[in-house]
Amino acid sequence: MNLPAVSKEHSAEELTALAKQTLVANDRGGYTVPTAGLYPFQWNWDAGVTALGWMTFDQQRAWDEFHSLLRGQWQSGAQEGLIPHIIFHQNADSYFPGPDQWGCEADGSVRNIPTTSICQPPLHATMIRAMLDMGADPAITEKNLKPIVQGLVKHHRWWYRCRDPFDTGLVFSSHPWESGMDNSPAWDAPLANVPRTTRAYTRKDLGHVDSSMRPTQEFYDRVVYLMDFNRSVAFDPIRIAKESPYRVNDICIISILNRASHSLAGLCDQLGLMDAAIFLRARCAMTAAAISQLWSEKLGQYVSRNAITGELLQAPTHAGFLTWYGRLVEPSRDAQQQATLLAWLSETPYALPSTRSSYPGFEPARYWRGPIWQHLTTLIAEGLDRCGHTELGKRLHQSTAALFAKSGFYEYYHPLTGAGLGGGSFSWTAATYLFWNYLHDHQLHLQDLRAA
Ligand code: GLC
Repeated sequence: MNLPAVSKEHSAEELTALAKQTLVANDRGGYTVPTAGLYPFQWNWDAGVTALGWMTFDQQRAWDEFHSLLRGQWQSGAQEGLIPHIIFHQNADSYFPGPDQWGCEADGSVRNIPTTSICQPPLHATMIRAMLDMGADPAITEKNLKPIVQGLVKHHRWWYRCRDPFDTGLVFSSHPWESGMDNSPAWDAPLANVPRTTRAYTRKDLGHVDSSMRPTQEFYDRVVYLMDFNRSVAFDPIRIAKESPYRVNDICIISILNRASHSLAGLCDQLGLMDAAIFLRARCAMTAAAISQLWSEKLGQYVSRNAITGELLQAPTHAGFLTWYGRLVEPSRDAQQQATLLAWLSETPYALPSTRSSYPGFEPARYWRGPIWQHLTTLIAEGLDRCGHTELGKRLHQSTAALFAKSGFYEYYHPLTGAGLGGGSFSWTAATYLFWNYLHDHQLHLQDLRAA
């Protein structure tokens, strides 16, 4: 299906129709591809955001997004509970690295479907709490909620067991793609210690998008090495925790996981899963006690840390602002981080760039090194709202609305010009629009959603 190009300012009605058409066009029967061609499978955190969009016009379809995702969850073995970052529901040769590259074929025991061996930020439980507040039909909810919550409990247990085996309170990621912010400048230093693969492979992304908007070849050589490393240790989580050349306490994953564990604990209360609720809240308490280790006095915001060397990764990225969303900002640091965000906002016409524009590593058109990602801005705005920083939240909201009206639903946006970049007709961007528009239509403020 060819969707109309968005080239002028569009009205709310036009955008709503286009956003729905985008999801329908990217629907592959129970799961949504991020965009045709460039990303032909189901992606983990995209699914959680995309479900919010479906929820505004087809509730069962929203729940189906999670059922499809959980079909890829690892069922047994040391990594039981992993929801991988890509679920290869069907084959497609337009993407590298596809199902033949990861060593994670369907075997009927650990996996029913081929997947990757890494994860992505686990925002699903928080999205489900929001769905319950969006006028969810009780009969549809009743049919769907429990199996999904049970799958997510297993998944959160996986995160804490496999990615914080020494109970530090701060989980680690073992691959830049796990953060969802693939080539963020925050990963430059830890990635420099990862060898470049020497094996031959062919990228497919450059056939879809100009190379100036995609990660570099050197980056790909290192991430392919990490993919192969996991297979070389037979996906043993303890060997990964001790030997992987890339281990990072990623502030994005830590914030999103913490918030989702609060959300999931609330869902468990509702369903009478008391052991799980107690476990999740205990882990949240451990994370809250450890978060001060990730404060950068130099940047005035939270940052990620190299878990191998213990060094803070001093790159100013928007991920640090997710700590409001993650319920992790310490009161003594709140005002300082707000001041930092205000300074960021004064530097670019559109918000919120993924990397601060005054930073030498800022590249306004290259993926996670500068462009705006709308779903991220939404999460950050929601966190600000929840914490009572409504003026800052409003500024992010206004900028987001302006970008939608100007450019439609792209993968990411240029923070200086507002132009849409990367893939077009993009699912999670369209879903983010539908979600915000729903709140607006129903006169709901993000703060009114009781989502924990
Ligand atoms: C890219 C993004 C990642 C996203 C995926 C599918 O790899 O970096 O965050 O999940 O595309 O949209």
